This record gives sequence, structure tokens and C-alpha cells, in this order.
Amino acid sequence: MKRIQVAIDGPGGAGKSTMAKALARACGLNYVDTGAMYRTVGLALLRAGIDPADGAAVAAVLPETQVGLRYEDGAQHMLLNGEDVTGLIRTPAVSAAASAASALPAVRAFLLKAQQDLAEECSVVMDGRDIGTVVLPGADLKVFLTASAEERARRRCLELEERGTPQPYEQVLAEMNERDERDTNRAASPLRPAEDAVILDSTCLSPEEVLEKLVSLVTERRQT
Ligand code: DC
Repeated sequence: MKRIQVAIDGPGGAGKSTMAKALARACGLNYVDTGAMYRTVGLALLRAGIDPADGAAVAAVLPETQVGLRYEDGAQHMLLNGEDVTGLIRTPAVSAAASAASALPAVRAFLLKAQQDLAEECSVVMDGRDIGTVVLPGADLKVFLTASAEERARRRCLELEERGTPQPYEQVLAEMNERDERDTNRAASPLRPAEDAVILDSTCLSPEEVLEKLVSLVTERRQT
């Protein structure tokens, strides 16, 4: 079967990773979560006590920061200097650090090559903010998956509750708006749909409906 590259971009909490994972299973693609790579850098900076917005300080520690990726039973695990940090990168502090660090061109350049290499090896579905615009500009299918901020905050609250770390809705919504603002207005690879992206607004769609749409788009692109 033809090798295929699928790019899924969109704001935080739009369901990109859930949908990309399900799409990978349904269509036999490898899933690459690029947000987890930025989160791993964010964690490294927090641990080193470095302000993730301080370009010079961040650039100085990147050469000694190893971000690795390993798959276990199909699930992506993140390695920081060899340590599996998968369970440590979903906290609000790491989210904020990842968002701040991801605005720095040095951090983006640091992760770009690794992301492009992963997509060279096999068929992939990769999710992030700049996959269709910068990382895989030649992707066979580009999707911009979005939903209203209120709906995304509601979903994130449910997720946090299920994980046993509930947070008030108002706080989640405020943090989400803050992150959207930063991801969209930064100069380096801002969050925006590629010109040839399919815009998919999931505010009023069930996960099954979104998946069905994505699978039909992949099937269609595989035939062309
Ligand atoms: O998708 P996520 O919430 O795990 O991403 C964490 C942060 O990383 C997010 O604030 C934006 C940034 N990011 C990015 O700038 N580019 C990507 N391709 C993926 C994530």
C-alpha cells in the first residue's frame, strides 16, 4: 500500500491525540505525538530551573538535552536523557513550560529534524501545531481539528477528572485561552491551518463521527 503522511494540527484540547491514535489504529499508521516532544523539553527546563522563555538560557542547555522516543505496545513513550518521563509531562506546569519554550526558534529547530526523520520511515499520522505548515508541508492529508474553547475546556476537565487530578472549569478555560493566544501569536511556526488543510470543527461532533470523517479522508487520499 502507498506510504502516506497525515498531518493533524489544531489548538490544545481539540482531541487531536485521541483522534490521531484512533486513526492510526483504524488505518495502520504510526502515530507521532509532537506535543509530547515539546513537553519533554519543557520538563527538562523546569528540572534545570530555567525560565522556558529565556532564549539564551534555553539554547545553552539544548545540546545536553536528549529527547528520545520509544514505542511500547504501540504507545509512544518519551525519554529524557534515557529516562522514561511519559507519566510526568501532562501536568499544568509542564504544559505552560512547553508552550513558552515552543515559541523559541532554537527549540523548534532542535525538534524539527527528529520529527521529519520519523515521518520518513513509514506511514504516519503526526499531530501538533505546525505539522501541515512546517514539519510535513508535503503531507498527503492535512487536517486542522478544532472546537470552541468552552468545549475544549469541558473535555479537558473530564480528562483531568478521570486522571484523578480535577481542576475547576474556569481555571482550565483561562489556561486554555492563554495557551491558544501564545501558540497562535508567536512569530516562529504559529498555530494556523495550512492553506490546503481540511478544517474539521468537532464542537458538535462525537468522537465516532470525527473518526469516521478522518478515516474516509485517508481512504480517499490513498486512492489518489
Ligand atoms: O499538543 P500539546 O498540548 O501536547 O502541546 C504542548 C505544547 O507544545 C503546546 O503549547 C504547543 C507546543 N507544540 C508546538 O508548538 N508545536 C507542535 N507541533 C506541537 C506542540
